[in-house]
Amino acid sequence: MGIAATIRTPAEGLFFQGKKNVEPILKTENLWKLYRAGKVDVPALRGVNFEVQPGESVAVMGPSGCGKSSLLYVIGGLAQASRGKVLVDGNDLTSLSDAARTKLRRHKIGFVFQRFNLLPTLTAKGNIAIAQFIHGDGFDPHRFEVVTQMLGLAGRLHHKPSELSGGEQQRVAIARAIINEPKILLADEPTGNLDSKNSEVVLQMLRQLNKDLGQTIVMITHNPEATTYFDRVVHMRDGIIVDGVPAD
Ligand SMILES: Nc1ncnc2c1ncn2[C@@H]1O[C@H](COP(=O)(O)OP(=O)(O)O)[C@@H](O)[C@H]1O
Ligand SMILES: [Mg+2]
Repeated sequence: MGIAATIRTPAEGLFFQGKKNVEPILKTENLWKLYRAGKVDVPALRGVNFEVQPGESVAVMGPSGCGKSSLLYVIGGLAQASRGKVLVDGNDLTSLSDAARTKLRRHKIGFVFQRFNLLPTLTAKGNIAIAQFIHGDGFDPHRFEVVTQMLGLAGRLHHKPSELSGGEQQRVAIARAIINEPKILLADEPTGNLDSKNSEVVLQMLRQLNKDLGQTIVMITHNPEATTYFDRVVHMRDGIIVDGVPAD
């Protein structure tokens, strides 16, 4: 074999360039979620095909009841798929036991909800640091510093949740969710309980986490402003993704 074997034609070069980053960090294939209500199955997801590339920020929009939360819970491993596949960083969640799925979730996914769910007796710092201890790696002062600075929490760390504004509490919850460097941050209407000013700050900071730290984010929102902060908006209707159709 001569050198020719290692030289690519220009077309091949383009092909390889195009392939860069093509491996999605998250992928669903024909994903279904049914809930049992009495004797009938209520379909919340009806064949969702969804892909997120590493480093992308994606907003999911759609009317209430269209399946947004169900999608987030299934891709985050909080709920089990009824049919189809969910690939997180190459691992098929649907083929895992509950215990294995929980383990994968702990290491790869961060969650933020509309309600902040902070521990009321701990300070902001305690609420964030405890996530590092639960994760098992112990306190990492550098990561703590980077994350809390970026979320504008430096001066608020010794306050308890009841002494913080809603926007500050949500920023603590975001810090807690990403402190262990999850591959994906999933947020379910994180600005749903905030006034417009605090919502804007939180969206701005999520954008910064995405741009400066490369944090992949999938966020459900009703906030039309989200389109200006996120790379891509995906619209859902009746349990499927209907891209191109305006939401809400
Ligand atoms: N635990 C549940 N049991 C039964 N039905 C549910 C449950 N959770 C959601 N649903 C139903 O699934 C559909 C989608 O709900 P959801 O995913 O919460 O939508 P969204 O977040 O877009 O408002 C709705 O019809 C809802 O009533
Ligand atoms: Mg919801």
